[in-house]
Amino acid sequence: MKSIQVEKREIETKSTAQQPRRLRSTAKLRSLVSETFVDNGHIVMPIFVQEGRGLKQKIDSMPGIFRYSPDIELDKEIEELTNAGINTVLLFGLPRKKDAVGSDAYNPDGVVQQAIMRIKNLNEDVVIICDVCMCEYTEHGHCGILNGRGEVDNQKTLGYLTRIAEAQASAGADIVAPSAMMDDQVASIRAALDTSGFKSVPIMSYSSKFASAFYGPFREAADSAPKFGDRKSYQMDSRNIREALRETELDVDQGADILMVKPALPYLDVISAVRQKFNLPLATYNVSGEYSMVKAAAMNGWIDEERAVDEILHSMRRAGADIIITYFAKQYARRK
Ligand code: PBG
Repeated sequence: MKSIQVEKREIETKSTAQQPRRLRSTAKLRSLVSETFVDNGHIVMPIFVQEGRGLKQKIDSMPGIFRYSPDIELDKEIEELTNAGINTVLLFGLPRKKDAVGSDAYNPDGVVQQAIMRIKNLNEDVVIICDVCMCEYTEHGHCGILNGRGEVDNQKTLGYLTRIAEAQASAGADIVAPSAMMDDQVASIRAALDTSGFKSVPIMSYSSKFASAFYGPFREAADSAPKFGDRKSYQMDSRNIREALRETELDVDQGADILMVKPALPYLDVISAVRQKFNLPLATYNVSGEYSMVKAAAMNGWIDEERAVDEILHSMRRAGADIIITYFAKQYARRK
């Protein structure tokens, strides 16, 4: 028993042993007992590459993010990233032309393939992950090939996804990341890579990708909004977590090397559940809408951007993600 004076009153208290505030009293002590870290090595920067020359195009809905042509403009961005300490990028392409089968996605001279070669030529240590999908390349904006009735045909799409992954691997991609949400896409891509001499190229599977309003700014950035309907017949229903675990299990069985939960913030519970159930490395994608919300609020002076970003990125690590894909990558790394 110890007596404490409060406003001249003597109060008897037993609770002197556990006082968590002791360890919060200075920044040094708080740092000593901090539990989670966001290292530059955990972060991946998405990059939009645009067919053409001499381009660095603003994206209105994503302040601070640009589309680069695969030339000196892209080189400069890669140099800024590596100087800041970011060594891994995720590439998305905007082709010169779109068609029914998204042929520029697997064309050996397609914009992403050009960008891969450009980056490797500049700095072969940069780790290049490539999004394997069709929505930026098809004239209808869906993530696969349509059957005659306006639906995405799973089986037909698989053949195209494998061609895209092979084209990216041939150009020098380090990791391929299928995001089309077609059934069996991981198994098909694994088989294709293995038979075409790319056994050592890992697959980062978008294992649970939800149909999300938070992709809005990306669709402006990548010019990939569907021209009719939505993506709910292939992307997951945001109400479901058991389904996310089932999708993840299927991808593990099909040979995925890295798993992913996307988006991140509204799905921290899914990150945590996947972390507990599976032992593969786990990525999460802090998507465009999550980025733009913070930027918009910060530009209005409504929140402190740096503190918000710190909190957001650490929440993903705390939930159990190993890798964070985020448009904040460069600015976060720069101030560390
Ligand atoms: C599909 C793809 C999308 C994103 C990444 N890959 C868009 C979609 O599914 O509509 C969204 C990423 C983001 O919002 O930052 N190619």
